[in-house]
Amino acid sequence: MGRNFSKSRALFQRAIKSLSGGVNSPVRAFKAVGGSPLYIERGEGAYLFDVDGNRYLDFCGSWGPLILGHAHPVVLEAIQKASERGASFGAVHEGEILLAEKVKKLCPHLELLRFVSSGTEAVMSAIRLARAFTKRNKIVKFSGCYHGHSDYLLASAGSGLVTFGIPASAGVPEDFTRHTLVAPLDDEQAVRDFFRKFPDDIAAIIIEPVPANDGLLLQRRGFLQFLREITAVNGSLLVFDEVISGFRVRPGGAAEYYDIKPDLATYGKIIGGGLPVGAFGGRADIMQLLAPLGPVYQAGTLSGNPLAMATGLATLEYLERTDGWSNLESTTGAFVKLLNDETSDCAVNIPSLGSLFWINLQKEPVRRAEDISKDNAERYKGLFSRALEAGIYLAPSAYEVGFISTAHSREDLKSAARSLGEIIRSL
Ligand SMILES: Cc1ncc(COP(=O)(O)O)c(C=O)c1O
Repeated sequence: MGRNFSKSRALFQRAIKSLSGGVNSPVRAFKAVGGSPLYIERGEGAYLFDVDGNRYLDFCGSWGPLILGHAHPVVLEAIQKASERGASFGAVHEGEILLAEKVKKLCPHLELLRFVSSGTEAVMSAIRLARAFTKRNKIVKFSGCYHGHSDYLLASAGSGLVTFGIPASAGVPEDFTRHTLVAPLDDEQAVRDFFRKFPDDIAAIIIEPVPANDGLLLQRRGFLQFLREITAVNGSLLVFDEVISGFRVRPGGAAEYYDIKPDLATYGKIIGGGLPVGAFGGRADIMQLLAPLGPVYQAGTLSGNPLAMATGLATLEYLERTDGWSNLESTTGAFVKLLNDETSDCAVNIPSLGSLFWINLQKEPVRRAEDISKDNAERYKGLFSRALEAGIYLAPSAYEVGFISTAHSREDLKSAARSLGEIIRSL
């Protein structure tokens, strides 16, 4: 007998009358996988519980922040203690220094930081800073990499080899993406061509060093090193968008994993431990251009929010104290190995790094968005809905990665790998 989703369905019908599309962020509507979204009543450890009383092993983790799982005691305690002192001051407080010091310790390449309230804001501010520092206009980004929803980063590649970005969303004027250049990942020649065409106008290259928004498109270290060199030689900046990879693939993120130092880096998700936080940081000579020291304006009513600083700090301290990152890597490795064994005869490959993984329903590994099979999404619908029936909550999109938390036990993961293997074999 199938699961009962009647309360979730009723809530969604109610939601669409007061919230646009029933949601506050589009993927949550389950449009990409068909069906109606689950309304979540609570999370506990590795599990989500919906309003119909169904339990799911959660591989989404609120899209990455919940590296300790749901409602972890250290996070709850941090919220409790901080909230007793007030939800927001709009003034400086010690909590923001404590988190900044912790982040600097884990990411020594960040000489100065600033906290904001989302990944989108962090990237927007880093790009403004890069343009001000270099006194240049253009930004190179890669197709398949997501950097939040600011206008000029919602750009897709236009046609032709050297191409200007074209708006990837209605409501973004072409003029706004005119300075955004979009290259395929892993394509050194495309990047060289941009520098040949605009030798004095590329402010920065921005990349997710671990691209995790269009599947998990793991890059060659050599490609990232090439980006480091070509930006340095041409007086441009290298910006690592570590909103997903930061504090996830290593304590110091992808910069540590690949041993490549970006000029600026952006963060979100884990740095707030589940509360809304973003951050950007990097070289002091660049960061000092920010107001009030310099001419680059950036601000936020709730930036450095005391609750969010406390939950971010509690999360990072707990991971440090418990050797969290290496434990996660080993539990994830065992899960991915078992899932690979279970599906060895199927058209599937499962790239993984740290505690990230992606179930790619095609045999060939891919490094570029352009190489992802077009019928992936259709097959994923079957995987997603049958996984839900089996009590496993995957991201409601074929192109989103899976996140494993310290709350996922080896037993949980073993039984999930078996169930997912069985479903994939039957697709
Ligand atoms: C790499 C990357 N950059 C930026 C963002 C935007 O962050 P936020 O959703 O917090 O605005 C995201 C969100 O998923 C992301 O994955």
